Amino acid sequence: MKKLVILVSGRGSNMVSIAQSCQTQGWNARIAAVISNRPDALGLVEAQRLHLNTEVVDHRAHAKRDQFDAALSAAIDRFEPDLVVLAGFMRILTEGFVRHYTGRMMNIHPSLLPAFTGLHTHERAISAGCLAAGATVHMVTPELDGGPILAQAVVPVLPGDDAARLAARVLEKEHVLYPRVIRWWLDGLLQQRADGRYVVTTGESQLLM
Ligand code: GRF
Repeated sequence: MKKLVILVSGRGSNMVSIAQSCQTQGWNARIAAVISNRPDALGLVEAQRLHLNTEVVDHRAHAKRDQFDAALSAAIDRFEPDLVVLAGFMRILTEGFVRHYTGRMMNIHPSLLPAFTGLHTHERAISAGCLAAGATVHMVTPELDGGPILAQAVVPVLPGDDAARLAARVLEKEHVLYPRVIRWWLDGLLQQRADGRYVVTTGESQLLM
């Protein structure tokens, strides 16, 4: 059985959708731990409600980024995860940390990458006049939000949308997209091609509309 460690900083709704999919779909995997850099993250409460192991590695207890990353990776590695899942984890990670998890760490970003890396994606999509927005699940590489795309979900930007309304529409899709991609990974269905891109070997669409 494969082991997942999920990292959260806030609300944790993606973590909940992953944990519930794992249970209801009978994945050959278990959530070994949910780890947060913020002791007050709502996601920790949600994880405990689901009877998952939780841990806090508080970034404020570490003066330097690499010290925090060392403490975080020590906490993660104690669970010997096959896959590290970033689910609303709001820390920039050092190159050494990211390289340690090459090919076994993924993230969800609330935009159609490569558009709108970084923060405030929904505001930026609206003010750019985009007619579509969405979310991307990607492998994590040292370049921020720049790793190979595993799957994307698209939603319309509707007249009168503000960032909150658009975020809610995107989030609903995130909750479908992220578990789907993790399951592909667990089932060994994601194959990296010579050009670095990932394809699903079953031929299923990597675009969720
Ligand atoms: C999601 O929109 C995700 O795409 C982004 O942060 C948000 C996390 O939400 N990385 P939640 O904590 O999973 O509810």
